[in-house]
Amino acid sequence: MTTQLLSRWKRSAIGSQLCLDLRSPQAYQIRHVAPSTNIPWQQLSLRCAELPPKNVPFAVIEPSDQKPDTCSQWLIERGWQCPYVFREDDDTFWTAVEQYSQPTTPKPWLLFRPCPFLMQHINWIEKQTQQHRCLDIGCGSGRDVAWLLSRQPLWNVYALDSLKGAVERTHQLTKNMGVHDRLVECLQAKITSEGKWKTFDEDSPAVTAKNNTTATAGTSPTSGTTTTINNTIAITNGDIDDKSRRFSPGVSTDTFFQDKLGCSQFDLILTIRFLVRSLLPQLPQLLAVGGYLVISHFVEDGVHEYEQPRKDHRLQLGELAALYGSMANIEIVVDVIEQIEDGRPVNSVVIKRTGP
Ligand SMILES: C[S@@+](CC[C@H](N)C(=O)[O-])C[C@H]1O[C@@H](n2cnc3c(N)ncnc32)[C@H](O)[C@@H]1O
Repeated sequence: MTTQLLSRWKRSAIGSQLCLDLRSPQAYQIRHVAPSTNIPWQQLSLRCAELPPKNVPFAVIEPSDQKPDTCSQWLIERGWQCPYVFREDDDTFWTAVEQYSQPTTPKPWLLFRPCPFLMQHINWIEKQTQQHRCLDIGCGSGRDVAWLLSRQPLWNVYALDSLKGAVERTHQLTKNMGVHDRLVECLQAKITSEGKWKTFDEDSPAVTAKNNTTATAGTSPTSGTTTTINNTIAITNGDIDDKSRRFSPGVSTDTFFQDKLGCSQFDLILTIRFLVRSLLPQLPQLLAVGGYLVISHFVEDGVHEYEQPRKDHRLQLGELAALYGSMANIEIVVDVIEQIEDGRPVNSVVIKRTGP
């Protein structure tokens, strides 16, 4: 039974290299499948951003201290596909899997995928750029940030998001992947519809609350919003905490990047699935000469019907081309309409700053 399931997984067309190992880090260190990714069961609910897309089946190794199928059921109920479930205490599995292990598979062994458009163009961008300073605005859970930081050449990354929880998840993901040292800044900051930048008041009660987070070891993924993540930072439900926090008055883009971030010229700027229109005309001034801006966002293409994001939060067809095409010293290098994995259309562009 186990060997048949294993063979089916390894012969599958997609996902045959994707294995989520839910055992403890200690057990993982002693032996593991290559490639596989260790996310201890207790951390799973906080690390869902690291899982594969929901349309990609993958294998799961369940810890022996959980009832069979507890973990896989939890995943399935939330929309993931895990038809290949193995148990920590199944010796047949560990013996049989050895023939499939590929110790030479290059690391990092990731389950998640960064933005496909970014993956498609990054090699070329890296060859064109002398320095490697990246700014990700609306970084979300930090997948693109962490992936970029794991690459050669070595990028230095600045990341911004209006949600405290997103900032915390980005810190955590880069720590989990061992690439945190080149995450230069990851700040909670919001770009307003007037084009100003707001940060949070340092003295606001919720900032203090972050430092007083109660650490609770061994909670299950379904309980509580606080947990201990193996000697790394404690995470609160930052998205909820935000409601009780106070924004600073807005400052200009120049002031924000020079005074708050300490860097105002980047070789790569990412805004992926994030749109605040007031920001778009300001982005070229943040590019170093020879730097690239990568935007990929949902577009109203007149063909596809979809609900999220709302129509006024979508790009119009040709909107980016019209804006950047009219600017001096700006070249549109790539401009495509493509579909993401669930079929929704996005307009993805690569823009270059060609002169001062
Ligand atoms: C759909 S997510 C995309 C995250 C990431 N770029 C990705 O592709 O996975 C959009 C992110 O933008 C952030 N965001 C929304 N409005 C913002 C604003 N005005 N300023 C800064 N960040 C904002 C959200 O908190 C969220 O994390």
